Amino acid sequence: MRVEVDQGLCSGHAQCAVAAPDLFQLDEDGYVLPYDGEVPEEREPQARVGARACPERALKILTT
Ligand code: F3S
Repeated sequence: MRVEVDQGLCSGHAQCAVAAPDLFQLDEDGYVLPYDGEVPEEREPQARVGARACPERALKILTT
């Protein structure tokens, strides 16, 4: 699983970082930083929760 971050959609709600602080971090202005690489399997549920928490739908879960 990977997470595609659309920084154009991010409005700084920070709900992703509240829901999944180990995965999603914010820059100094409160906008989500890109998530690079594979999500570790044991953190996949947390990644889904974090993505769902975003009211702007800026985080997309990619599974292949
Ligand atoms: Fe941005 Fe959504 Fe997180 S607006 S800071 S990606 S909750």
